[in-house]
Amino acid sequence: MKDQLTWIEVQDSIGWIKINRERKLNALNRELIDQLHDRIINFQNHPSVKVIVLTGTGNKAFVAGADISEFSSFEPEQAAAFARQGNQVLFDLITQLEKPVIAAINGYALGGGLELAMSCHLRIAVQHAKLGLPEVSLGVIPGYGGTQRLPALIGKGNAMEMILTGDIISADKALELGLINQVVAAEKLLEATIILAKRLMKNSPNSIKNAIKAINASDSTLKGFKEENLQFSLCFGTTDFKEGVAAFLEKRKPEF
Ligand code: COA
Repeated sequence: MKDQLTWIEVQDSIGWIKINRERKLNALNRELIDQLHDRIINFQNHPSVKVIVLTGTGNKAFVAGADISEFSSFEPEQAAAFARQGNQVLFDLITQLEKPVIAAINGYALGGGLELAMSCHLRIAVQHAKLGLPEVSLGVIPGYGGTQRLPALIGKGNAMEMILTGDIISADKALELGLINQVVAAEKLLEATIILAKRLMKNSPNSIKNAIKAINASDSTLKGFKEENLQFSLCFGTTDFKEGVAAFLEKRKPEF
């Protein structure tokens, strides 16, 4: 039987999806990505769900990244296929969904976790949330659309700084940059998310669907996503990648 890596609930036309892998800070492994895919499709087809909310279990992490232990031994071709598949079944699926998806960021949103939040249509974060794309510190680059969605949200200069430094920023800084839409006290996350969802739900679902499509058309090009996949895969098997991943798994700083 599959582990229960996600929980769902429908309440007042909001479809809640909770990522439930707290012991590993909700890191995204393949099984979790597949479960999230199924949950999203289920809510897309659910007649009474108007808005979908994605959040994490516990107060420490939304998602602390893609599961590093899962891809540590990949060769470039496997890495390219792995990222392509994840994008197709989850990240692009969410971005192109016909119902709005809100990321309720309850803690760390790092690497694949921030990429997941960025694939959602709106983001609301708790005050103690920490956000970043630290992949370069692991000898790799973002592979789930981060190099494309981050500049679209905060501009190329700010995205260059965040991705090349790998810096992890506060929720207040993320708000200032336009990376998230709102910051709230931890105990207000639920209430604030419901208020935001209700502001969307009072509008025409058909118009919301068309607006999402039109806004997405202004986003980065297909060429950019393809280039990301290539450059991501080229990191695999390099000495830097081996050192970066080994350092993380051994809980030490990498030496590049
Ligand atoms: N992949 C796999 N496992 C992860 C993970 C990830 N992205 N993020 C956290 N974990 C695991 C840790 O290995 C640890 O497992 P263990 O208890 O079996 O050793 C557990 O989750 C708790 O994490 P830990 O690092 O002990 O917590 P912390 O409070 O000391 O640090 C972070 C929290 C978020 C700073 C740290 O976990 C981290 O740097 N994670 C990776 C972030 C990252 O680089 N993400 C991008 C990946 S592409």
